[in-house]
Amino acid sequence: MSVISVVGGQWGDEGKGKIVDVLSSDVELVARYQGGANAGHTVYTEEGKIVLHQIPSGILRDNCVCILGNGMVVDPEGLYEEIRQVSKKNISIDNRLILSHNAHIVTPIHKAIDIHSEGKLKNPIGTTGKGIGPTYVDKFNRRGIRGIDLLNLEILRIKLYNRLESAIENFEIPLALKLELEEKIESYLKISEKISIYVSDVYEIIQSHLDNSQKILIEGAQGTLLDIDHGTYPYVTSSSPSTGGISTGLGLPLHRISRHIGIFKVYCTRVGEGPFPTELQDESGELLRKIGKEFGATTGRPRRCGWFDLPAAKFSVQVNGLTEIALTKLDVLDKFEKIKICTGYMINGKIQSGYSSSMCNLQEVEPIYTEFPGWRTSTVGFHHSENLPGKVKEYIRFLEESLGVPIKLISTGPARDQIIES
Ligand code: GDP
Ligand code: IMO
Ligand code: MG
Repeated sequence: MSVISVVGGQWGDEGKGKIVDVLSSDVELVARYQGGANAGHTVYTEEGKIVLHQIPSGILRDNCVCILGNGMVVDPEGLYEEIRQVSKKNISIDNRLILSHNAHIVTPIHKAIDIHSEGKLKNPIGTTGKGIGPTYVDKFNRRGIRGIDLLNLEILRIKLYNRLESAIENFEIPLALKLELEEKIESYLKISEKISIYVSDVYEIIQSHLDNSQKILIEGAQGTLLDIDHGTYPYVTSSSPSTGGISTGLGLPLHRISRHIGIFKVYCTRVGEGPFPTELQDESGELLRKIGKEFGATTGRPRRCGWFDLPAAKFSVQVNGLTEIALTKLDVLDKFEKIKICTGYMINGKIQSGYSSSMCNLQEVEPIYTEFPGWRTSTVGFHHSENLPGKVKEYIRFLEESLGVPIKLISTGPARDQIIES
């Protein structure tokens, strides 16, 4: 069996794009199963930097066909722009990009509802404003617009105007936006026509790859702690980034997947609101942000930074059934004199049993830390774990033993070849 999943183990931005790029050099199919343009997956190739939001990172390897699965919410305008960006890098997407006819479609109305409803909330979620939540709401309310609807522009136009009408009637957006959105709908229809050529049946393609034992890589977006079911609700995204989402988001049975790789940074970040037990609001946090260039790939917002959270990572290992781990951004810790790992949670002076029992009052958690001496030497671009300084090996061994899952990949820089594989 040669189906591998790559999922975010924390609050997103773990470096999934980079790891998918590394692993896709000999893969036939790369598929996304959830989320949409809220994702920002950064990859550095020989052609420079590219940030992918909806197209799977496998598009950068000409051996890969890329699928936007039924569990995604796809924005045709964003997708069109992304296709242009990819094409500028001299990458051909001909016959390499397929949008499931069952994927749900984000429209300018959904984006407006997202932004407007965030504006009205006393405690906003801090969404990306990409229309993700409202599009999933329509999906589950059984009034969504799907990939298949891009194939009939007349029906699409009717659906768009009906949705605009109901959004205004139900006070999801103010009447003052009507004219602007009507104009947007017209240009949206033109782009949708261009995107319609990518709409197709995806089930057959996945099944034939499975039947022929061709390599499939599944690319998660966001992360386990942002999962609608297992995350820090309500400060989550509206999809299932954990491995459970793969089966519904692609129609690919989980037992066909042989490896589940969880991606973890050697520290933690979070964009948007919500609890974050190990968040650092001091110089160390600033340093992580500065050295790690922790600014959102989609919205440019500064990412909140903190130490590695072991109880949360253990939860992620369990919920996803991870078989291995890829650690990223090791080099970001190179300059630190002391490095901490949160090894337990305390609430009101009482030690807690783990992440799941504390997940509803995470904001009250005081982290218990184990401190490690910094290695204070460069690990940038290391290729072999034997050559790593002793203190780094000690730090990694501690994580591996605590998580109970082998760390098979260690990323030592943003570039493709800055990786240790074991
Ligand atoms: P994703 O959403 O999980 O794909 O992650 P993002 O692309 O949003 O954020 C990860 C950032 O870290 C990107 O800018 C990557 O180029 C960068 N990155 C990935 N791995 C490494 C690494 O090992 N070291 C450093 N310094 N940067 C890395
Ligand atoms: P990648 O794939 C980090 C966060 C938002 C917000 C919450 C809900 O690059 O790891 P949404 O727009 O999804 O309704 O916002 O989820 N969020 C992410 N944070 N990385 C992401 O994707 C994210 N996608 C959404 O900041 O807190
Ligand atoms: Mg990202």
